[in-house]
Amino acid sequence: MLLPLQLSFKKSINIIEDFNNTVIIQSPHIRGNIPPQSLNINQPSPGVLAAIQTLATDGATEEDLSDLVLQRDGVSQLPKFYYYLQKLIQLGTLCYSIVVEGLPLAKLVPLSLDGKIEFKKAVINKQYVLSRFAYCRKEHQHLVLESPLSQAQIILFGWKGAALISELAKPQLAHEICTKIPGISEEVTRLFFSLLLSTEMLFEVKEDGKTQEEESEPLRQWEFHNLLFHSRTRTGRHSNPIGRTYPFVEQIKPLPAVKPKMSKDTIDLYKPDISNLENTDYPLTFILERRKSLRNYSENEPITDKQLGEFLYRSARIKQIIKTENEEMSRRPYVNGGAAYEFELYILANTCQNIPTGFYHYCPQDHQLCKISGKNQYVAALLEDAWLANRDRSFPQVLIIISARFQRIAWTYESIAHTTLLKNVGALFQTMYLVATAMNLAPCALGNGNSDLFAAAAGTDYYAETSVGEFILGSKLLV
Ligand SMILES: Cc1cc2nc3c(=O)[nH]c(=O)nc-3n(C[C@H](O)[C@H](O)[C@H](O)COP(=O)(O)O)c2cc1C
Repeated sequence: MLLPLQLSFKKSINIIEDFNNTVIIQSPHIRGNIPPQSLNINQPSPGVLAAIQTLATDGATEEDLSDLVLQRDGVSQLPKFYYYLQKLIQLGTLCYSIVVEGLPLAKLVPLSLDGKIEFKKAVINKQYVLSRFAYCRKEHQHLVLESPLSQAQIILFGWKGAALISELAKPQLAHEICTKIPGISEEVTRLFFSLLLSTEMLFEVKEDGKTQEEESEPLRQWEFHNLLFHSRTRTGRHSNPIGRTYPFVEQIKPLPAVKPKMSKDTIDLYKPDISNLENTDYPLTFILERRKSLRNYSENEPITDKQLGEFLYRSARIKQIIKTENEEMSRRPYVNGGAAYEFELYILANTCQNIPTGFYHYCPQDHQLCKISGKNQYVAALLEDAWLANRDRSFPQVLIIISARFQRIAWTYESIAHTTLLKNVGALFQTMYLVATAMNLAPCALGNGNSDLFAAAAGTDYYAETSVGEFILGSKLLV
């Protein structure tokens, strides 16, 4: 490594000295991830042992560590020391700090277990600017700089690091920026720039005023929030716990599989005879080939209560409740990652024969509509949004709003709860499309909806339950 950075172990690394005089350096066990990786150093020389112990405290530069080995062991152990140092870097066990007058300014912490950092040196006379993907947030008692382009996090200690980041929102030269922040030399600034360059948080500004980040067409088309969501909900760039880890077991009670009814004002819905349908329904390929989005309706013959009942029964009813030791799950016609079935369906009946205009919650267990309200200002606004989203601009006869009780899925999954939920919306959409096609109805999914408006209409807490998908349905316009 070329930079005079201070090396130390990541806080989460375990150092075990066993009876056989072996030092085991072990990455932590992370829920849902690959098992911990470790490096065993058998009978380390006094110098190598001292270097390991130094890395386990405040750390030291590579030069100071090799001096330590040289003093204690002589030159013979240096190759071994460098061999182990390389291994520790490859395992992502080491942090790299900039220390100014004994105080840390910034510390690079590798996030992924196999993400080797390729160190780059910032140079004088070149301008650098912060990546538009870099962001600061609070973690424990520090500010951290992160980016979905990066495999590492930078901890910023004190205000000087934050001040440097703030200045880097516009292109900067190292020798100019350091004049704005007291106590930061040009050399420290260049080291800081190098740390950010090596972690893809900073980019060089070329002569035409552009950066590599701005020139890349694939990168230009990523919005900040999408790339962050993608990188944090897939494995590769982080080593956060992932998958079915039950992060809140014994801390927070899981929600029941069935949401309690929202009112006593209920409408029993028609139930089709499924075994009869199994024998008489159209073949799958016939339906798949005819499925399409239909956005106009027969106004003379709006959808009926019976059709709505059949549609909901065939797409979204509860077929079975399954109780395990820890949680309640269920079986329904559509596929659902995690089987938590986090969705609730809300029916905005606009012009549905035999169902008074209003806003209803669908009870998938009793196959009933529970009335929430008539046509109030929120309901009218939801309907107008659906009208705007419908490419052909016709008012839906029925608007189905899919909400999620987020805790159902967040109780089970870590890192991937929300991305699984969105995949589940797609699975429900396709099921509803196929059922509507088989029933000769007009289905269309919508791409956007107002979750705050939904929460106001349904009286839910936005963070506990709000809308994640919209689907419009009506009687088919015969041409
Ligand atoms: C997630 C999703 C969002 C959609 N959003 C809208 C929308 O906002 N407005 C609309 O008119 N159609 C929307 N559609 C329907 C698509 O435009 C339609 O599926 C696509 O054009 C293919 O046509 P087809 O469904 O007739 O095969 C959406 C479909 C999906 C799956």
